Amino acid sequence: MKDIVALCKRRGFIFPASDIYGGINGFWDYGPLGTELKNNIRDLWWKSMVLTPPLGPDGEPVQIVGLDSAIIQNPKCWEASGHVGGFNDPMVDCKESKKRYRADHVTVLLPKNQDGFWLAFDKDAEEDDINQRLKKLAKGRPQSDYDVKKLDKIPFSDFSKIIGPDAKEPGTLTEPRQFNMMFYTFIGAMGGEENKAYLRPETCAGIFLNFKNVLDSSRVKVPFGIAQIGKAFRNEVTPRNFIFRSREFEQMELEWFCEKEEAPKWFEFWVEQRKKWWDSVGIDLKKCHFLDVPKEDLAHYSDRTIDIEYQFPFSAPEYDELEGIAHRGNFDLTQHQTFSGTKLEYMDPTDNTRRFLPDVIEPSCGLTRAVLAVLSEAYTLDETRPSGVYLNFPPAVAPKKAAILPLTAKEEHVPIAQKLYMELREDYAVDLDIKQNIGKRYARQDEIGTPYCFTVDNDTVSDQTVTVRDRNTMAQERIGLDHVADFLRGKMHKKS
Ligand code: GAP
Repeated sequence: MKDIVALCKRRGFIFPASDIYGGINGFWDYGPLGTELKNNIRDLWWKSMVLTPPLGPDGEPVQIVGLDSAIIQNPKCWEASGHVGGFNDPMVDCKESKKRYRADHVTVLLPKNQDGFWLAFDKDAEEDDINQRLKKLAKGRPQSDYDVKKLDKIPFSDFSKIIGPDAKEPGTLTEPRQFNMMFYTFIGAMGGEENKAYLRPETCAGIFLNFKNVLDSSRVKVPFGIAQIGKAFRNEVTPRNFIFRSREFEQMELEWFCEKEEAPKWFEFWVEQRKKWWDSVGIDLKKCHFLDVPKEDLAHYSDRTIDIEYQFPFSAPEYDELEGIAHRGNFDLTQHQTFSGTKLEYMDPTDNTRRFLPDVIEPSCGLTRAVLAVLSEAYTLDETRPSGVYLNFPPAVAPKKAAILPLTAKEEHVPIAQKLYMELREDYAVDLDIKQNIGKRYARQDEIGTPYCFTVDNDTVSDQTVTVRDRNTMAQERIGLDHVADFLRGKMHKKS
């Protein structure tokens, strides 16, 4: 992870927000290449949902329309959704280390024979840390001597036996406190509780609020979907793992409205579609885990949820969540109908006496988390090349599709390269890089994941061909200048 974070900063993918002021925990800025990468992933999701939605079981494209709703909505929206009352994480503080943890992220080892202290570990503790602490605090007792429990499942009366994740003494963890994760602000000049409003903690609410507007203004019929991409904000107790869990992030959410009886079929449909999409952006499905969330862990409104989990560098060999696909029933529409007093029922066009609130299947995915997964998957060590590393992005995802490199800054090479650049940039994000020796320029393109480099040299002047260098194999071939655009077009749907 450290190497990925360092490359992201060095090459302009992602910077800590407010870097020159020492940063601000849980916030990140996307640099020139990170913005391109994020936009590409965003556009591929939008295309797969709204522009070219998949074919449904009947062989026809399913109907999905897009939306871009406000970040701040009427605060009643969050009362209806349950966020004002319940968007809480149980949180414990450690009086010794002064650190704060989410209780459901702390694992506790309890000695099977009841003898000795209980040892707590934060979610990301590595095997080595665990063994080191067992050595120091439990005379090297093996892990097999312990049972494992989550801290939020342990009664507070037993906390006196627990040594906190960064503590040396037992009994320093405080009682879990609920902590509302919504950021808020005050609208207008007056401030005051009555003008309090919240920054949305998820994008889906705007979709439910506009369900009726979309029905009344477009020609969609159940089953159909509304898709939205945008910022979401959560005052996470412990933002961590680079952009994985941040306080400001982006989500890509689809709310798929269907008849209750058909919900299980559509649930399976969307799980399959989402697998295909992750594969298309270069995620190795062998490094994914599809967790059928156990009944006791499901949100109260959900009958079934599958979490798509990925083996992130910080979690490997374990997995962490990329996306959740939830059957939300008609909980949200019911709540908003009740709280707003506005009828949100859908009228069956074949039988106008039949009105109902459709069920919802929701594939909900973090865009910024997808950026981290794509970067992690692409990061490939290769000692044989000068950069020592390259980013193996699929061409469609890569921030730059190609670099055009005149071999030298000579009179005859540069104008040809400039002309090619001006032609290609109409359709593709391409780089024209004139300075430095060619090896250094290839190394830079490898590190930013540019799949192809077109080099203009003396032969170009005489026979109108350029060298194409393939990022992954470093193999070179010559193609005609007039074939370069076709060549790139043919590569855009390839995986690498
Ligand atoms: N509307 C449902 C919903 O928001 P969620 O599981 O809380 O469900 C969905 O969030 C996705 O949003 C997660 O799978 C993750 O990819 C992303 N996400 C959630 N919290 C995040 C955070 N603090 N930082 C980055 N991404 C986050």
